[in-house]
Amino acid sequence: MNDSPVDPDAATEIADVLRLSQELALRYIDSLDKRDIGVATDHQTLHAALGKPLSDEPLPPQQVIEELFEAADPGVVATSAGRFFGFVEGGVLPAALGADWLASTWDQNPAFYVLSPAAATAEEVVSQWLLDLLRLPAEASVGFTTGAQLANVAGLAAGRHHVLKAVGWDVEADGLQGAPPVTVVVGEERHATIGRALRFLGLGERNVTVIPADAQGRLDPSALASALRDVDGPLIVCAQAGNVNTGAFDPFQEIAELCHESDGWMHVDGAFGLWAAASPRLRHLTSGVELADSWAVDAHKWLNVPYDSAIVACAHPDSHRSALALHAPYLIRHTDALRDGSDWTPESSRRARVFAIWAALRSLGRKGVVSMIETCCEHAESFAAQLATHPEIDILNDVVLNQVLVRMGDDDERTRQTARRVQEQGRSWLADTVWHGKAAIRISVSDHATTAADVTEAVRTIISAAEQQL
Ligand SMILES: Cc1ncc(COP(=O)(O)O)c(C=O)c1O
Repeated sequence: MNDSPVDPDAATEIADVLRLSQELALRYIDSLDKRDIGVATDHQTLHAALGKPLSDEPLPPQQVIEELFEAADPGVVATSAGRFFGFVEGGVLPAALGADWLASTWDQNPAFYVLSPAAATAEEVVSQWLLDLLRLPAEASVGFTTGAQLANVAGLAAGRHHVLKAVGWDVEADGLQGAPPVTVVVGEERHATIGRALRFLGLGERNVTVIPADAQGRLDPSALASALRDVDGPLIVCAQAGNVNTGAFDPFQEIAELCHESDGWMHVDGAFGLWAAASPRLRHLTSGVELADSWAVDAHKWLNVPYDSAIVACAHPDSHRSALALHAPYLIRHTDALRDGSDWTPESSRRARVFAIWAALRSLGRKGVVSMIETCCEHAESFAAQLATHPEIDILNDVVLNQVLVRMGDDDERTRQTARRVQEQGRSWLADTVWHGKAAIRISVSDHATTAADVTEAVRTIISAAEQQL
């Protein structure tokens, strides 16, 4: 039998590796204030540094960690710095980071209660906390996923089960071949992950009824009413809390009424926008969202936990579990009273990412969650107000949440070049997008670490970059 490649004095080895990892992690965190957000290296250099031949012999773990840090760090984008405004990327709260380290140390698998009573119970508790904070029905079921992508898959899988069961079809057993057709209705401005979820579920990305959206990207309820007039049979309607460009919210109350009049299932993609429900000041944006049948929301975006972490919630636990639960004779089950996490998510084995959510919520408390969400939105308002004072800069959206769309001199090229130049300067980071066929810069404030000074500095950088493009 081969000897283990791990040092016989494993405890000392692990302690040394963890101490070294902590030192390197702190070195990285200390660098966040000063370092360029983007990377100063190229793919070839990174490949040369990381792409050494795989050795035949084991290497000491400390050497491996040192090598990894030296090789990868130059290629790390500082997305958790307060000066990063690209995509919709959250930062990392200290308690969440610590809990994530513990989750890896414990190496727990929350697929089944028997594998980790601690993770299963934490999932149960965190589910209730989240439903309460997001003002969703307390009896809803919750699954923990890698991101809103899989939360969308899970919510729509539950919907597919529910609407087909209502017409006597068992989609899990019999698939979609020969099934009664399901009408899927989406807004024109749905996120790309809705299309991919429909693809995974055999419903088809193109085989949808698309409802036009208004200037902010909100689904038009009168067009939905007309579209649903002719629908007979299984129906799923996808709505959105937080458009990825504008931050706008669909009119949930009207959508829910129309969808449920036709016995449809309403799914809400609320990857970041659903967090508005936690804030008394912003809650009006999500009015009626609680009437939906399923919801997807990320934790790694606006709750500022490390990747990868999201939840799906479902108002019909039976449909949720029927669509997703795993069955095999060797799987040890407990009673329904104890949570088997794999019943509620498309995954089987997975990390206990719930511990980071637990720690984030405990460390923030209700007031901290509200303050983090509202402060990000105030920074977004400040971005818009400061940039709008420039005669050649237009703000394209109503800034209702944490997203700001900016355009320079009604000029696509100048707008794109401005974004590029800001990225090259390294102090702030934002990306360009396309909104209604025109180039725009998309600013997203989603990090607890962002300060008013970060915003003012980014505004100055954007204006100076825009002026260089004249
Ligand atoms: C509205 C919306 N839905 C879904 C997603 C996908 O989220 P994830 O990347 O966490 O899967 C995003 C990501 O930006 C989003 O903004």
